[in-house]
Amino acid sequence: MTRRPASVTVRVPAKVNVQLAVGGPRPDGFHDLANVFLAVGLYDEVTVVPAEELRITVAGPDAGQVPADASNLAARAAVALAARHGLEPRVHIHIVKDIPVAGGMAGGSADAAGALVACDALWGTGASREELLAICAELGSDVPFSLVGGAALGRGRGELLEPLETGGTFHWVFAVADGGLSTPEVYRECDRLRGDAAVPEPEASPALIEALRTGDAVALAASLANDLQPAALSLRPSLAATLAAGAEAGALAALVSGSGPTTAFLAKDAESAHAVAGVLAASGTCRTVRVTTGPAQGATLV
Ligand code: C5P
Repeated sequence: MTRRPASVTVRVPAKVNVQLAVGGPRPDGFHDLANVFLAVGLYDEVTVVPAEELRITVAGPDAGQVPADASNLAARAAVALAARHGLEPRVHIHIVKDIPVAGGMAGGSADAAGALVACDALWGTGASREELLAICAELGSDVPFSLVGGAALGRGRGELLEPLETGGTFHWVFAVADGGLSTPEVYRECDRLRGDAAVPEPEASPALIEALRTGDAVALAASLANDLQPAALSLRPSLAATLAAGAEAGALAALVSGSGPTTAFLAKDAESAHAVAGVLAASGTCRTVRVTTGPAQGATLV
């Protein structure tokens, strides 16, 4: 009999959407997207150990904002994998959170992808990549990307992934806001602001994909686009001051990360990123500032 590990830890990255083109609402309530994801080096760590029953604990500065019960996406990931393999999800999932909570950086999705990969290793399920990706897609639109990392174009509601080439390291600063924003609310606000206006089919920008491929930060900055940004700003007008502070500090470009309220600043190099971070931290327009790079690896056993 194969010996099972006593515990498994998986590290999972945050993401920023370098392009988020949003179509009109679909009959199922979702929106078709052209969603260009870039994984960045802020990580949650998910550790699983055998237990009498499913249990979840969360550590980290914002742990109090994360549900520590069966509603947590990581718990649902464990339940989904167990159900497919005729197992009981007898596991203690411990999450050490470093990705901002409800921040538009896919923290919950990262935990789900991490729990899935960790439980697969703990239980020796031997699920194929395709099966893991299918479970991820059931759990949420951004979960498949958390599994694969790197850079990818997400079609459909974001779950149909096509990997993208990246030609270098991009330097990012993230300004973390107080409190989160609800993703469904931001999509609803996007629809409300658009009213009856015709919405074009979402398409990925060839210039943006080329900038990723060549590692050209200036060209990437010129192509960054987020259709959810007006909605996030409408729900959280104070984000305009954060975006302005980072832009004035010398960022190549500033945008809301996904559905927000985290704001993202692309810098020319590491030195410039630290300078922008310093100005943002002193600006009084955000709670904390993080400096990191992308692309980052997807869910990885540690
Ligand atoms: O898939 P996920 O659970 O992350 O989506 C959260 C919510 O965000 C959905 O319930 C929906 O309101 C909105 N959403 C959307 N279109 C997408 C992805 C998410 O409307 N492509």
